[in-house]
Amino acid sequence: MDRPLIAWSRPYKQRGHEMNGKQYWVANIGHPLRGMLDIPGDKSISHRAVMLAALADGVSQIDGFLEGADTRATAAIFTQLGVHIEMPTASRRIVHGVGIDGLRAPDGPLDCGNAGTGMRLLAGLLAAQPFDSVLIGDDSLSKRPMRRVIDPLSRMGARIDSEAGGLPPLRIYGGAPLRGIGFSSPVASAQVKSAVLLAGLYAQGETTVREPHPTRDYTERMLSEFGVGIDYSPGLARLRGGQRLYATDVLVPADFSSAAFFLVAASIVPESELYLRSVGLNPRRRGLLDALRMMGADIVEENAREQGGEPVADLHVRYVPRLRGIALPEAWVPDMIDEFPVFFVAAACAEGETIVRGADELRVKESDRLAVMATGLRALGVEVDETPDGAVIRGGSLRGGTVESHGDHRIAMAFAVAAQRADGDVRIEDVANVATSFPGFDTLARLAGFGLTAGTMAE
Ligand code: S3P
Repeated sequence: MDRPLIAWSRPYKQRGHEMNGKQYWVANIGHPLRGMLDIPGDKSISHRAVMLAALADGVSQIDGFLEGADTRATAAIFTQLGVHIEMPTASRRIVHGVGIDGLRAPDGPLDCGNAGTGMRLLAGLLAAQPFDSVLIGDDSLSKRPMRRVIDPLSRMGARIDSEAGGLPPLRIYGGAPLRGIGFSSPVASAQVKSAVLLAGLYAQGETTVREPHPTRDYTERMLSEFGVGIDYSPGLARLRGGQRLYATDVLVPADFSSAAFFLVAASIVPESELYLRSVGLNPRRRGLLDALRMMGADIVEENAREQGGEPVADLHVRYVPRLRGIALPEAWVPDMIDEFPVFFVAAACAEGETIVRGADELRVKESDRLAVMATGLRALGVEVDETPDGAVIRGGSLRGGTVESHGDHRIAMAFAVAAQRADGDVRIEDVANVATSFPGFDTLARLAGFGLTAGTMAE
């Protein structure tokens, strides 16, 4: 497309924290992990809560909002799009919705930071606006595939340009009328499904998304809470364009993916016992619970209840002297897609072999999580065979060493967990991005009993 757009150029990439020097951790065996922990709010739900509240008629209050860099970036983008968002206290937002047609043209590029969810969902929403916009991200996000949303959105009539290979930044040309489509997604991705559904809100006629394997249905549940008529069942979602959203308060549960680090840590550190309060247990997010239980972990769900349309429970986890390696059923992969870094750590501490297959999506997350975990675990003395779509991990003892997180928050936290069983110091490089999903992880981990100190290297 050759039409001039708002000013845009490469230097707009978000810089992250590295301007102040690289942050690292040194982690080692601490104390038994004990206590009752409040894990920060769910990242997926926090993104969606801001988006839908912004599009609604009326004022919505969000409690338990994740104060992570990713979700704050999404809130900042909606401010740029003309939405008034108050923050009376941390983890609370009051969003003055502008209505489905009320967003305003932004004054510059919209910076999604590290967030694939932010960029992909916003692509769907912005493709339907009457104005042009540009979505940018940090170095990691700038390497992540966007064709998976550009293709279906283009079929709906959207006009989107990307860098070569379908990479960000995305230049979205407004004013294109959208039509509903029947879309069978080639990837099991809640982000792709959600981008198409958000565009579908503005499309002529009906939009249907079919998935090769059911994925988290937060967008569907929340659209329904905001008054949108939407039919959905595992693997299928359908809505009609032209509906309005009505303001609704949202109480965000604790993020299962953040809780996961403590579930594994307490399972492998002798004499540990932790309670994690009000953790979201959406059926498409809780796969790690089944996997850890299959390995022999002792995790009990207590006080199961519903919160804002989502199942939640308090999780009670106790150390077990022996985890067993497993062949992970392939069908479980999408239900634990964000938990593989820490699952690999559980496997490294288990007896015998753990086999993961059908997990090639891990190669296009915040880092290539198969390669980065294999390299890091090997640096700690673990035997790992990396395969094109998974890995074979032979459990054993862990030694100290230095590992690279490649700026991937979940890799950094997974190795902090691994260090609790290593017989020497584990230095974890490049940890600043932990703040994208779990601000304060190091403090909470230390309080629970982790051996963990943080440092910054002058550049
Ligand atoms: C997310 C969906 C998943 C997940 C990501 C959050 C979401 O990505 O990995 O952390 O909020 O929809 P994919 O949809 O790309 O699998």
